[in-house]
Amino acid sequence: MGWLFKALNSSIGKKFVMALTGVCLILFLVIHLINNLTLYFGPETFNTVVKNLDGIKPLIRVIEVILGLIFILHIFNGVRLWIENKIARGTGYTIKGSSKNADIFSRTMILSGSIIFIFLVIHLRTFWMSFNFDHTLKESHRYYEAVVSAFQDPVYSSFYLFAMILLGFHLNHGFQSAFQTFGWNHKKYFPFIEKFGMVYAWGTALLFASIPIYFYFYGGK
Ligand code: HEM
Repeated sequence: MGWLFKALNSSIGKKFVMALTGVCLILFLVIHLINNLTLYFGPETFNTVVKNLDGIKPLIRVIEVILGLIFILHIFNGVRLWIENKIARGTGYTIKGSSKNADIFSRTMILSGSIIFIFLVIHLRTFWMSFNFDHTLKESHRYYEAVVSAFQDPVYSSFYLFAMILLGFHLNHGFQSAFQTFGWNHKKYFPFIEKFGMVYAWGTALLFASIPIYFYFYGGK
Protein backbone atom coordinates (compact mmCIF):
# COMPACT_ATOMS: atom_id res chain seq x y z
CA MET A 1 0.00 0.00 0.00
CA GLY A 2 2.92 2.30 0.84
CA TRP A 3 4.26 2.09 -2.73
CA LEU A 4 0.86 3.10 -4.13
CA PHE A 5 0.66 6.12 -1.84
CA LYS A 6 4.22 7.07 -2.80
CA ALA A 7 3.46 6.70 -6.53
CA LEU A 8 0.27 8.78 -6.30
CA ASN A 9 2.14 11.40 -4.29
CA SER A 10 4.83 11.88 -6.94
CA SER A 11 4.50 14.72 -9.48
CA ILE A 12 3.42 12.30 -12.23
CA GLY A 13 1.10 10.50 -9.78
CA LYS A 14 -0.63 13.73 -8.88
CA LYS A 15 -1.06 14.63 -12.57
CA PHE A 16 -2.47 11.16 -13.17
CA VAL A 17 -4.99 11.53 -10.32
CA MET A 18 -5.91 14.95 -11.75
CA ALA A 19 -6.53 13.45 -15.19
CA LEU A 20 -8.46 10.44 -13.89
CA THR A 21 -10.69 12.48 -11.56
CA GLY A 22 -11.07 15.13 -14.30
CA VAL A 23 -12.32 12.53 -16.80
CA CYS A 24 -14.76 11.12 -14.20
CA LEU A 25 -16.07 14.67 -13.63
CA ILE A 26 -16.38 15.16 -17.41
CA LEU A 27 -18.53 12.01 -17.63
CA PHE A 28 -20.59 13.11 -14.65
CA LEU A 29 -21.24 16.48 -16.35
CA VAL A 30 -22.61 14.69 -19.45
CA ILE A 31 -25.14 12.75 -17.33
CA HIS A 32 -26.01 15.81 -15.26
CA LEU A 33 -26.54 17.88 -18.42
CA ILE A 34 -28.87 15.27 -19.99
CA ASN A 35 -30.86 15.25 -16.74
CA ASN A 36 -31.08 19.06 -16.67
CA LEU A 37 -32.10 19.30 -20.31
CA THR A 38 -35.31 17.39 -19.51
CA LEU A 39 -36.46 20.74 -18.03
CA TYR A 40 -37.16 21.79 -21.62
CA PHE A 41 -39.80 19.04 -21.86
CA GLY A 42 -41.91 20.77 -19.21
CA PRO A 43 -42.94 20.23 -15.57
CA GLU A 44 -44.46 16.78 -16.00
CA THR A 45 -41.33 15.23 -17.53
CA PHE A 46 -38.86 16.91 -15.18
CA ASN A 47 -40.87 16.22 -12.02
CA THR A 48 -41.25 12.55 -13.04
CA VAL A 49 -37.49 12.22 -13.68
CA VAL A 50 -36.68 13.64 -10.22
CA LYS A 51 -39.39 11.48 -8.59
CA ASN A 52 -37.97 8.35 -10.26
CA LEU A 53 -34.44 9.22 -9.12
CA ASP A 54 -35.84 9.61 -5.61
CA GLY A 55 -37.10 6.02 -5.91
CA ILE A 56 -33.52 4.70 -6.22
CA LYS A 57 -32.19 6.82 -3.35
CA PRO A 58 -29.70 4.26 -1.90
CA LEU A 59 -27.93 3.95 -5.27
CA ILE A 60 -27.96 7.73 -5.75
CA ARG A 61 -26.44 8.16 -2.26
CA VAL A 62 -23.56 5.78 -3.11
CA ILE A 63 -22.92 7.66 -6.39
CA GLU A 64 -23.00 10.99 -4.52
CA VAL A 65 -20.40 9.80 -1.99
CA ILE A 66 -18.09 8.54 -4.80
CA LEU A 67 -18.58 11.82 -6.69
CA GLY A 68 -17.83 13.82 -3.54
CA LEU A 69 -14.57 11.89 -3.04
CA ILE A 70 -13.63 12.45 -6.70
CA PHE A 71 -14.20 16.20 -6.29
CA ILE A 72 -12.16 16.29 -3.06
CA LEU A 73 -9.24 14.42 -4.71
CA HIS A 74 -9.39 16.66 -7.79
CA ILE A 75 -9.43 19.90 -5.78
CA PHE A 76 -6.83 18.74 -3.23
CA ASN A 77 -4.40 17.63 -5.96
CA GLY A 78 -5.10 20.70 -8.11
CA VAL A 79 -4.25 23.06 -5.25
CA ARG A 80 -1.12 21.02 -4.37
CA LEU A 81 0.11 21.07 -8.00
CA TRP A 82 -0.55 24.80 -8.19
CA ILE A 83 1.43 25.48 -5.00
CA GLU A 84 4.28 23.23 -6.18
CA ASN A 85 4.35 25.00 -9.54
CA LYS A 86 4.52 28.37 -7.79
CA ILE A 87 7.43 27.23 -5.62
CA ALA A 88 9.20 25.67 -8.63
CA ARG A 89 8.79 28.90 -10.59
CA GLY A 90 10.36 30.79 -7.69
CA THR A 91 13.41 28.53 -7.89
CA GLY A 92 13.56 28.68 -11.69
CA TYR A 93 12.53 25.05 -12.02
CA THR A 94 9.24 24.61 -13.85
CA ILE A 95 6.96 21.64 -14.13
CA LYS A 96 5.55 20.66 -17.54
CA GLY A 97 2.54 22.75 -18.50
CA SER A 98 3.48 25.73 -16.38
CA SER A 99 5.71 27.55 -18.84
CA LYS A 100 5.35 31.30 -19.27
CA ASN A 101 3.94 30.81 -22.76
CA ALA A 102 1.29 28.36 -21.59
CA ASP A 103 -2.04 29.66 -22.91
CA ILE A 104 -4.63 31.55 -20.89
CA PHE A 105 -6.72 28.38 -20.42
CA SER A 106 -3.94 26.41 -18.74
CA ARG A 107 -2.69 29.38 -16.68
CA THR A 108 -6.15 30.06 -15.25
CA MET A 109 -7.03 26.48 -14.19
CA ILE A 110 -6.75 27.31 -10.48
CA LEU A 111 -8.84 30.47 -10.89
CA SER A 112 -11.55 28.81 -13.00
CA GLY A 113 -11.48 25.80 -10.64
CA SER A 114 -11.86 27.99 -7.54
CA ILE A 115 -14.85 29.86 -8.97
CA ILE A 116 -16.41 26.56 -10.07
CA PHE A 117 -15.92 25.40 -6.47
CA ILE A 118 -17.75 28.47 -5.08
CA PHE A 119 -20.46 27.89 -7.67
CA LEU A 120 -20.72 24.23 -6.58
CA VAL A 121 -21.27 25.15 -2.93
CA ILE A 122 -24.04 27.64 -3.84
CA HIS A 123 -25.52 25.21 -6.39
CA LEU A 124 -25.69 22.37 -3.85
CA ARG A 125 -27.25 24.70 -1.30
CA THR A 126 -29.91 25.87 -3.79
CA PHE A 127 -30.86 22.60 -5.45
CA TRP A 128 -29.40 19.53 -3.74
CA MET A 129 -30.38 20.63 -0.22
CA SER A 130 -33.94 21.59 -1.14
CA PHE A 131 -34.54 18.57 -3.44
CA ASN A 132 -33.38 16.27 -0.62
CA PHE A 133 -34.46 17.92 2.61
CA ASP A 134 -37.32 20.33 1.88
CA HIS A 135 -40.32 18.23 2.97
CA THR A 136 -42.93 20.51 1.40
CA LEU A 137 -41.14 20.26 -1.94
CA LYS A 138 -40.71 16.50 -1.64
CA GLU A 139 -44.42 16.02 -0.90
CA SER A 140 -45.64 18.30 -3.69
CA HIS A 141 -43.08 17.05 -6.27
CA ARG A 142 -43.01 20.56 -7.73
CA TYR A 143 -39.28 20.41 -8.51
CA TYR A 144 -39.65 22.10 -11.90
CA GLU A 145 -41.37 25.06 -10.27
CA ALA A 146 -38.52 25.30 -7.71
CA VAL A 147 -35.95 25.48 -10.54
CA VAL A 148 -37.97 28.15 -12.37
CA SER A 149 -38.25 30.21 -9.20
CA ALA A 150 -34.45 29.99 -8.54
CA PHE A 151 -33.67 31.18 -12.07
CA GLN A 152 -36.04 34.15 -11.75
CA ASP A 153 -33.43 35.69 -9.47
CA PRO A 154 -31.19 37.84 -11.70
CA VAL A 155 -28.21 37.68 -9.30
CA TYR A 156 -28.33 33.87 -9.08
CA SER A 157 -28.79 33.46 -12.84
CA SER A 158 -25.97 35.92 -13.64
CA PHE A 159 -23.55 34.13 -11.35
CA TYR A 160 -24.62 30.82 -12.90
CA LEU A 161 -23.78 32.20 -16.37
CA PHE A 162 -20.43 33.54 -15.19
CA ALA A 163 -19.56 30.16 -13.66
CA MET A 164 -20.49 28.39 -16.92
CA ILE A 165 -18.10 30.61 -18.89
CA LEU A 166 -15.35 29.60 -16.47
CA LEU A 167 -16.42 25.97 -16.75
CA GLY A 168 -15.93 26.32 -20.53
CA PHE A 169 -12.41 27.67 -19.89
CA HIS A 170 -11.61 24.87 -17.42
CA LEU A 171 -12.89 22.10 -19.68
CA ASN A 172 -11.30 23.56 -22.83
CA HIS A 173 -7.85 23.04 -21.33
CA GLY A 174 -8.74 20.15 -19.01
CA PHE A 175 -10.05 17.79 -21.71
CA GLN A 176 -6.93 17.80 -23.87
CA SER A 177 -4.62 18.02 -20.85
CA ALA A 178 -6.08 14.78 -19.44
CA PHE A 179 -5.43 12.99 -22.76
CA GLN A 180 -1.89 14.33 -22.75
CA THR A 181 -1.37 13.07 -19.19
CA PHE A 182 -2.52 9.59 -20.27
CA GLY A 183 0.06 9.78 -23.06
CA TRP A 184 -2.55 9.87 -25.84
CA ASN A 185 -0.86 12.72 -27.64
CA HIS A 186 0.06 11.15 -30.97
CA LYS A 187 0.69 13.99 -33.44
CA LYS A 188 -1.75 12.50 -35.92
CA TYR A 189 -4.71 12.24 -33.52
CA PHE A 190 -4.03 15.01 -31.02
CA PRO A 191 -5.44 17.87 -33.17
CA PHE A 192 -8.70 15.90 -33.31
CA ILE A 193 -8.70 15.43 -29.51
CA GLU A 194 -8.10 19.19 -29.10
CA LYS A 195 -11.02 20.04 -31.42
CA PHE A 196 -13.29 17.47 -29.82
CA GLY A 197 -12.36 18.85 -26.37
CA MET A 198 -13.17 22.37 -27.50
CA VAL A 199 -16.59 21.32 -28.85
CA TYR A 200 -17.29 19.34 -25.65
CA ALA A 201 -16.16 22.22 -23.39
CA TRP A 202 -18.09 25.04 -25.02
CA GLY A 203 -21.05 22.83 -25.98
CA THR A 204 -21.45 21.70 -22.36
CA ALA A 205 -21.01 25.22 -20.95
CA LEU A 206 -23.48 26.67 -23.47
CA LEU A 207 -26.17 24.04 -22.90
CA PHE A 208 -25.92 24.38 -19.10
CA ALA A 209 -26.04 28.19 -19.46
CA SER A 210 -29.04 28.08 -21.79
CA ILE A 211 -31.25 26.84 -18.92
CA PRO A 212 -31.06 29.90 -16.59
CA ILE A 213 -31.32 32.19 -19.65
CA TYR A 214 -34.47 30.42 -20.84
CA PHE A 215 -36.14 30.36 -17.44
CA TYR A 216 -35.15 33.92 -16.57
CA PHE A 217 -36.72 35.32 -19.75
CA TYR A 218 -39.60 32.91 -20.31
CA GLY A 219 -40.31 31.83 -16.75
CA GLY A 220 -41.02 28.27 -17.91
CA LYS A 221 -44.25 29.32 -19.72
C1 HEM B 1 -17.18 19.80 -12.89
C2 HEM B 1 -16.06 20.26 -12.43
C3 HEM B 1 -14.69 19.96 -12.97
C4 HEM B 1 -14.24 19.25 -14.06
C5 HEM B 1 -15.09 18.51 -15.09
C6 HEM B 1 -12.80 19.34 -14.10
C7 HEM B 1 -11.97 18.76 -15.04
C8 HEM B 1 -10.60 18.88 -15.09
C9 HEM B 1 -9.72 18.19 -16.01
C10 HEM B 1 -10.18 17.19 -17.08
C11 HEM B 1 -8.46 18.59 -15.77
C12 HEM B 1 -7.18 18.17 -16.51
C13 HEM B 1 -6.38 17.14 -15.73
C14 HEM B 1 -4.97 16.98 -16.33
O1 HEM B 1 -4.27 17.97 -16.46
O2 HEM B 1 -4.60 15.87 -16.64
C15 HEM B 1 -8.50 19.54 -14.69
C16 HEM B 1 -7.40 20.20 -14.16
C17 HEM B 1 -7.44 21.04 -13.07
N1 HEM B 1 -8.54 21.28 -12.25
FE1 HEM B 1 -10.43 20.69 -12.63
N2 HEM B 1 -12.37 20.09 -13.02
C18 HEM B 1 -13.49 20.48 -12.30
C19 HEM B 1 -13.53 21.21 -11.13
C20 HEM B 1 -12.40 21.74 -10.50
C21 HEM B 1 -12.43 22.44 -9.23
C22 HEM B 1 -13.69 22.69 -8.38
C23 HEM B 1 -11.17 22.82 -8.97
C24 HEM B 1 -10.80 23.58 -7.72
C25 HEM B 1 -9.69 24.15 -7.47
C26 HEM B 1 -10.30 22.37 -10.06
C27 HEM B 1 -8.93 22.59 -10.21
C28 HEM B 1 -8.15 22.14 -11.24
C29 HEM B 1 -6.74 22.49 -11.44
C30 HEM B 1 -5.91 23.43 -10.56
C31 HEM B 1 -6.30 21.80 -12.59
C32 HEM B 1 -4.89 21.85 -13.24
C33 HEM B 1 -3.95 20.84 -12.61
C34 HEM B 1 -2.60 20.83 -13.33
O3 HEM B 1 -2.50 20.13 -14.31
O4 HEM B 1 -1.69 21.54 -12.88
N3 HEM B 1 -11.09 21.69 -10.96
N4 HEM B 1 -9.82 19.70 -14.27
